[in-house]
Amino acid sequence: MKIFLDTANLESIKKFNDMGLLDGITTNPSLMSKEGGNPKDAMEEITKIIKGDVSLEVISTEYSGMMEEGKRLRQYGDNVVVKVPMTPDGLKACRSFSSEGIPVNVTLIFSANQALLAAKSGAKYVSPFIGRLDDIGQDGMKLIQDIKDIFKNYPELKTQILVASIRHPVHVVDAAKIGADVVTLPPAVLDKMMLHPLTKIGLENFLADWDKLKSGNPNIKI
Ligand code: G3P
Repeated sequence: MKIFLDTANLESIKKFNDMGLLDGITTNPSLMSKEGGNPKDAMEEITKIIKGDVSLEVISTEYSGMMEEGKRLRQYGDNVVVKVPMTPDGLKACRSFSSEGIPVNVTLIFSANQALLAAKSGAKYVSPFIGRLDDIGQDGMKLIQDIKDIFKNYPELKTQILVASIRHPVHVVDAAKIGADVVTLPPAVLDKMMLHPLTKIGLENFLADWDKLKSGNPNIKI
């Protein structure tokens, strides 16, 4: 399963990229707004740091505006995936971009039907928002299973399931068990995935034991 980071925060992107954990980045207008400043600078930097797919989202809601913005976004790099909303105009733009060989991520997917339509329009990725479904009392992970089951029936659909709106590490394990292609993670979730209390205690014990050994012979070194 590929791991994308769901952020426009350069510090986090550099931190996790240096650990070799990132296959790509997803952004959206809210994440850009959270960082402030000029989003163009962030887009330029992110596409420089990350070699994998970087989803940059259009703001226009009608077809011609999406096409114009998508083409501008692609100037940041060949690894830019144009992100469009799951609307009739978004699907039309998805079809046009994908016919030109430009990869598209269709976002704001909340049903299996929407995922199926986005795949038919040629999307490289569909982004179902599982946390927001959980928030309204629906089972977000069930949607991932449904989309996976449907796509499995039609191997000609090459669209990848990009699980978005992930809120905690259990979402990641469940998405991996289902066989989702990609998870896009807020930095805080990726931080939590690295931690385990027994790792911390184990390391403290190793170091304390080493100190005991060293107290008898201060000159020892590794
Ligand atoms: O990738 C989509 C994500 O940014 C939305 O997350 O937590 O706002 O539902 P959230």
